[in-house]
Amino acid sequence: MNFPAKLDDIRVDAPDAPAHVPKDVIVDIGFASGGVPNDLVDPYEPFEWLNGQDIPRLLYNAPSGMGAMAAAAGGGMSNGNWVAAHYEDIDRIYCDNEHFSNKGTAEFQRLIGETFPSIPLGLDPPEHTKYRMFLTQFLGPSTITRIMEPRIRETLDEMIGEIADKGEVDMAWDFARVFPVRIFMSMMGFPKEMFDDFLEWEWNILHSNSLEKMQWALRNVLAFLRGFIAEKEKNPDDELTSKIIHGTTQGRKFTEDEKIGMVWFLWLGGLDTVAATISQMYRRMAMQPEIQTMLRGHPELTNGAVDEFLRTQPILNTGRRALKDFEWHGMQIKAGDSFTALNVAGNFDATRFANPREFDPTRRGNRHFTLVGGVHSCLGGHLARRELRLLLDMWFARIPEFRVKPGADTTVFPGLMSIRNLPLVWDVK
Ligand code: HEM
Repeated sequence: MNFPAKLDDIRVDAPDAPAHVPKDVIVDIGFASGGVPNDLVDPYEPFEWLNGQDIPRLLYNAPSGMGAMAAAAGGGMSNGNWVAAHYEDIDRIYCDNEHFSNKGTAEFQRLIGETFPSIPLGLDPPEHTKYRMFLTQFLGPSTITRIMEPRIRETLDEMIGEIADKGEVDMAWDFARVFPVRIFMSMMGFPKEMFDDFLEWEWNILHSNSLEKMQWALRNVLAFLRGFIAEKEKNPDDELTSKIIHGTTQGRKFTEDEKIGMVWFLWLGGLDTVAATISQMYRRMAMQPEIQTMLRGHPELTNGAVDEFLRTQPILNTGRRALKDFEWHGMQIKAGDSFTALNVAGNFDATRFANPREFDPTRRGNRHFTLVGGVHSCLGGHLARRELRLLLDMWFARIPEFRVKPGADTTVFPGLMSIRNLPLVWDVK
């Protein structure tokens, strides 16, 4: 795959772009949105030049014509969107709540006429704050240690035990796709038998690019979640869905819209994000075995390694909308304009990270954007990090050096779709 390598390669004419956008910054940034596969050890390398010193600080992605689907996802790509690829600018987009809004993000449910918001992601402070505070008590480090760590260990023990003596596994399909979803479903109290349906619905919502399929999946998942909430209203248990729907905020119970808004967004955010990360993490280690050797020899580096895997594999670019008119880097920004923060470039900005393409678990102050930053920083981050850390520890304890099965395809979509199959092999004694 030949990726564009300079600004002229991505400049396009876009007669329908808004009049306040200068023509010379209009581009097609589609190649950096995770939809184009490649086979590089560092699959994010083709986007590096986008935050070069010679590149305008704001580009404008041409209107895509994706219309309703993209608007529901919060990208607002139907009218095009400003694109930031430099670390400092992405940081501002996430942290400056006076100029940038997340209202309406990830509201796929609008495609079937639903009006409840995605909570907490689709709300701005101060409205966002009370939900964030409420949910944090269930997803903070001490709760993860007390409630989730024993389940993570048990699941990993079982799953690694099943494969250790076989000498091979399809890491993406049979392991990464399964392990975090099992943990997430157990945390929420969802019935195990929904596993295949959940993954099928989620895939159709996030990756099918078909309005019809998205609507079909949305109807199914929301009908299931509403039925499940109704059941837990009557018969609560100790898991997260019950805690949410029987919870209170500011001395009152949650409304039906608030309950479905929280449970729905957790469902959407919690299912395949860790899976995509694990697949890419193992692909990188299999293709660069010196990382395995380093981590096996130095277990004290595992925490740093988890964040370095996250930094070097930013599976999502995220969006915001301008709240008011303002000027930025010489551009006139209008209220309502959409922004895309290119984490796939910002995480490798040399002005912030020394030797940005190097995998360095000893890196200090590794404040990357994979779990975003600011008020919407990923609420599942503690769970995700714990899953990844325990996976590395328990895997290295039982499985020797592994490599990609000879002849296997190592193509990766550097994004949420990631890798469908990743056959790995190791020597069994
Ligand atoms: C490595 C795995 C994960 C990645 C890369 C990831 C990524 C993200 C990103 C990029 C955002 C912010 C989106 C934005 O600002 O527009 C986010 C927010 C969020 N994530 Fe995650 N996520 C991961 C795992 C999880 C898990 C396992 C859960 C559920 C348990 C979860 C729940 C959430 C929630 C609730 C928010 C919204 C926070 C808020 O708006 O205050 N995430 N995540």
